[in-house]
Amino acid sequence: KWSMENFIDIEVEKIRESVGERKVLCALSGGVDSSVVAALIHKAIGDQLICMFIDHGLLRKDEAESVMETFGDRFDMNLVKIDAQDRFLSKLTGVKDPEQKRKIIGNEFIYVFEEEAGKLTEVDFLAQGTLYTDIIESGTDTAQTIKSHHNVGGLPENMKLDLIEPLNTLFKDEVREVGAELGLPDEIVWRQPFPGPGLGIRVLGEITDDKLEIVRESDAILREEIKKAGLDREIWQYFTALPDMRSVGVMGDERTYDYTVGIRAVTSIDGMTSDWARIPYDVLEVISTRIVNEVKDVNRVVYDITSKPPSTIEWE
Ligand code: XMP
Repeated sequence: KWSMENFIDIEVEKIRESVGERKVLCALSGGVDSSVVAALIHKAIGDQLICMFIDHGLLRKDEAESVMETFGDRFDMNLVKIDAQDRFLSKLTGVKDPEQKRKIIGNEFIYVFEEEAGKLTEVDFLAQGTLYTDIIESGTDTAQTIKSHHNVGGLPENMKLDLIEPLNTLFKDEVREVGAELGLPDEIVWRQPFPGPGLGIRVLGEITDDKLEIVRESDAILREEIKKAGLDREIWQYFTALPDMRSVGVMGDERTYDYTVGIRAVTSIDGMTSDWARIPYDVLEVISTRIVNEVKDVNRVVYDITSKPPSTIEWE
């Protein structure tokens, strides 16, 4: 009979058998799927697993630190962090078009991954957090079944790696159960979806350090207050976005001309459709006041009240 403990025991045995004394590489993003894959394989083969975490500079506040702390310190994994912030930002300089930004970030991710993976000798396997739903969606069950949406765009061509996809029979809720059973913290097991291009598609138009900072800080305030209000499991996804515009405000006796922060919070089952979350007014008030007071260069906060369709969840 299928149970969580059984699943873990059986998969651990399978992984040990197929890997033997060899090594496995895993691109860890901090998201649910890659985290659970890493924890499962680590349980099976310990230091024969090498995890690679690429910081593209488009992560949320404290995200990189938290990944390093959880997997490097707490789980004591063999974890390599690649600081690629400058590389991504310089490629994105002057680029305004959303699709072009996405393409640049996606491609750069593959280049960095290939380059760094190429430096690792003696790796024979690549672990991926492919779920059952990913396979159905792409219609085949081969190694190429990675959603175009996905962070890692595919196997590095010149690397002859065998794929390990231990989650490919599971649905998302089962993956969360496995993660919890493996001792992953709630903040990872229940993490909201976060797009591969990260804050790069939440700073609308051209990306600059200053704008990233505004999104990062306002998003951190939003997350803190949603959690404090006990709404973090109820709302499917919530974040801030920074439109490419300024408006007039007044602070003391001074006229200001500053940025507007948009709050996006949605309820959804799978992200295909969504409704805007009815966050209580008093919670919105605290969020708005804090963002305007605490985040530099912001004088206005708006709340997105559109459903998907006709909108999308992200603003780019
Ligand atoms: P949209 O904006 O299309 O988003 O309504 C639906 C869900 O997908 C996420 N999303 C992405 N995830 N890479 C990803 O890994 C992407 O390029 C990407 N674009 C959107 C989005 O956050 C939402 O959960």
